[in-house]
Amino acid sequence: MISLDDLKAMGRSLDGQILTTLDQDKEFKIEFVEEMGFIFTPVSSGKPRKHQFRYAQEVLKRYNETKSWHPRDYRDITRNASYVLPLIQLVEEKKRTRILRTPIIAGNWKMNTTVAEAVSLVMAMKDRLDAIKGVEKVVCPPFVSLVAVGEVLIGSSIAVGAQNMYSEEKGAYTGEVSALMLAGLCQYVILGHSERRGYFGETDEIVNKKIKAALKAGLKPIVCVGETLEENEGGKTGEVITRQVRAALDGLVSLENLVIAYEPIWAIGTGRAATEEQANTTIRLIRNVVGGLYGAAAQELRIQYGGSTNSANIAALMAQPEIDGALVGGASLKADEFVSMVKQTAQAKQRRR
Ligand code: 13P
Repeated sequence: MISLDDLKAMGRSLDGQILTTLDQDKEFKIEFVEEMGFIFTPVSSGKPRKHQFRYAQEVLKRYNETKSWHPRDYRDITRNASYVLPLIQLVEEKKRTRILRTPIIAGNWKMNTTVAEAVSLVMAMKDRLDAIKGVEKVVCPPFVSLVAVGEVLIGSSIAVGAQNMYSEEKGAYTGEVSALMLAGLCQYVILGHSERRGYFGETDEIVNKKIKAALKAGLKPIVCVGETLEENEGGKTGEVITRQVRAALDGLVSLENLVIAYEPIWAIGTGRAATEEQANTTIRLIRNVVGGLYGAAAQELRIQYGGSTNSANIAALMAQPEIDGALVGGASLKADEFVSMVKQTAQAKQRRR
């Protein structure tokens, strides 16, 4: 049984993308309009056709009864069946294979930008980023700029994230910031970044505590894992990553709201990104580790790659099936560069659909 909610969720994730009819005869753009329905625009004619949810509901009812893929079997309900059926098929595929993950590109600004610079930077990319569909976009400025950046982004499709937080809710922890404090200011929080682990002594155990505190406060953690150059060259990548992932997820009942970022330490800020095959292989390994713990839900978990990504290497990385986005450092401080990366991600992932 496919519900209208399933169909809406699929429509939302495909908003702005080009699909083909089931007979592969016609390409059309799909737009999702909350409270109304879908707008299908055949590429050949360019004439938009509205398909309201009440018709979609009728189509679904018949589809659930008959399982027919022939538009003619729905002609008495709607003339748009050839456009809505591919959407139903994608929901079926997702139910079967659960592989449709919305890519997520997050910019980790690290300890860069004053408040004024942060505002200029986000203003320089806001409209262009907002216009890109099919990719979740996140910017992670320093704590002190969260409010100002969040204000610029009100009403846009761009989310805000913090770069760290402490695991306690409140109390005598001078200089620290809690999940509760962040909850009203941002949606995401990067946790366990290798710079936090390396310079500030964060252990797997601390990272696990922070993840639990973030989830409890309604924040979505972007959890970083990654091996050192020495571990990589010593053939220890699998072992290290498995340990970090297991420890990070220890005691979590669900993967909901969680994103993992695979950031090999040797690739961060070095200009030496992992090859797309390396990144894809390690991310597949992470998914397998998570699959061992959570079963099929691992297929829905988004796993990013991070480390010297830029507008020149993003397309190849995003063409890989296991890589669901990027956590971008240096390149996220340049508006044109970051916008280009998000745009290329949308294109690469659309091609794979
Ligand atoms: P760079 O993209 O500058 O290598 O940084 C990656 C990173 O650490 C993102 O969190």
